[in-house]
Formats: sequence, C-alpha cells, structure tokens
Amino acid sequence: MNSVASAPGKAILFGEHAVVYGLPAIAVPLSGIRAYAYCSANESPLTLVTEDLPGPPLVYGSGAMDISDPMALVVKLTLQHLGASAMAGRVSLRSDLPIASGLGSGAAVSAALGRAIALLRGACIANSDLNSIVYEVEKLHHGTPSGIDNTVVVHEIPLFYRKDQAMDQIEIADPLWLVLADTGIAAPTRAAVADVRALANQAPARTAALFDRIGAIAHEARCCLERGATARLGELMSANHRLLRALHVSSIELDRLVEAALDAGAYGAKLSGGGRGGHIITLVDELSAGKVAQNLLEAGAKRVMTTTVGE
Ligand code: PMV
Repeated sequence: MNSVASAPGKAILFGEHAVVYGLPAIAVPLSGIRAYAYCSANESPLTLVTEDLPGPPLVYGSGAMDISDPMALVVKLTLQHLGASAMAGRVSLRSDLPIASGLGSGAAVSAALGRAIALLRGACIANSDLNSIVYEVEKLHHGTPSGIDNTVVVHEIPLFYRKDQAMDQIEIADPLWLVLADTGIAAPTRAAVADVRALANQAPARTAALFDRIGAIAHEARCCLERGATARLGELMSANHRLLRALHVSSIELDRLVEAALDAGAYGAKLSGGGRGGHIITLVDELSAGKVAQNLLEAGAKRVMTTTVGE
C-alpha cells in the first residue's frame, strides 16, 4: 500500500501576537505550499524519514518514545487516538515550507504525519481530532500557542480566529495575490512571544492599546475580504506591520523587505507569524506581482513565492 497525506502552510494576514491575548486574527491556508507524508506499509517497526532534515531515520518500536521530539509526539498521540500501541510502516516526509519562518511548517508537518499514521492503520482521522493532536505538538514549538496555526492548517479554510471560540470561516470575495518573501533568518516563535509577554508586563497600558488597535484592524480587514476591497486591505496590512514594529517583533531585514514591496507598487506588506525573521507577505495584483518579487530579491530576500488565496 502506497499513499500520500498532506497539509498546507498558512499565512497570518492580520493579528499575530495580539491573538495570544484574545484579540481576533485572520489566517489563510497556502494550499499550493504543503508538507507531504508518503506512506508504505512494508516496513516494521514504524520508520520515519525526513527528506529535508539531516540525520538517520527515526524508528518507533514498541518502547517508550521521546515525546520532546515533535514527530514522536504526533505518532504517540495519533496511535493513542486510534487505540493502537505500536505499528508498522514507513513514512517519508517532505515539505515545501521552510522551518521557523512564519508559514506554519511545524503544524503542516504534524498534520500530514498524523494523517499518514491514520492511513497506515486503514483509518480516517476527523479534522477536529487531528486539530487537538497538532495543538498539543504546537506547544512544544511555541509554549503557549493561540491555536491559530493548527486550526487553519488542519481545516484548510480562511479563518477569523479567536482563541477558545468556535471556528468562524471567512468568505473571500476576490482571490488574493500574495508575494511571500523570506528573510532567510530562522526565528523561533517562542522567543518573540516571550518578549511580547515581557513588554505586556512592563508597559501594560501601552501594550494593551497596541493589541486593541491590531484587533480593530482585523475586524475591518474581515469586511474588506468579504467585499473585495483589496486596496484598503493592503493599507490595513501595512498599518498592522507598523503596530508589530511597535511591539518590537520586526527587524531591519523585515522592514527593508516591507519597504521594497511598497516601493514596487504592492497594496500593502507586513511580517507574518512570530516575526524577528521569517517571511513578509505582500498583497499585490496579478500585474504587479513580478515587479514586486524582483524588487524583493534585489532588497535581499533569500527567496520569493507568489501564490493566490481564496480561489
Ligand atoms: O510564527 P508562527 O507562524 O507559528 O505564528 C505565530 C503566531 C503568534 O501569534 C505570534 C503566536 C500564536 O500562538 O498565535
């Protein structure tokens, strides 16, 4: 039996960091940029090969698993959910998504792996159950994740996300053209989230005011997405980026790429995800996408990807 499971990356269009404090955020799946898990049943015990990571294959026998390893935790929780203790098979993981770069790589790999384990057992795992498993694994990456990454990656729908609230899907009126540009700097989200918490403790009123402004932007952005008001959406993205700068989660490299995108005619641009490094996202139209991508490479982007959302 050979089969493949997968899950998309994600981009946070609005509201990162503030979402940890209960404010709304908007995230979309990047359906063309995915993590894949190829499975075959003919190997025992369960063996995991990661094509993008160095090191020997991971082998999961019947012994205790090191559950500080995210992949071992996915295997353990999925087996537990399926009522199994050990299993055979080979899973080979490959991802289009760079690690620690704001595009949901960890959640996408976990979701693809969870689906592959279920496939190998001849079972199907409901998205709501997989979402809970991936959330547990995200805690290893993030400490106190809001849950936005796992939810958008597992359900693969555009979301107006609020922590601990029912899922709220956004209907995107006009497809969005996005150019994603990588600073090439891997930045762990956990550190940025911890620094924002320190700032919130040190200057609570000022930080709460920044969160509120980010939340208000997310509300207006939802209306723009549902009406196809692309130009205004771009302005809101850039305004959100300025507020993230005020939270000290941007960087010289991110700011330089944002400026380069705006100079080339993007509707708007911002960092996406934890910040400090990783990607910026820019909203463009089909005609300006090439010029924006070129300018971003000239301004130092290590790679750019153009994708559409909401088609
Ligand atoms: O760095 P990413 O892509 O995993 O996004 C993190 C988003 C934050 O709002 C900064 C943290 C969270 O848990 O929501």
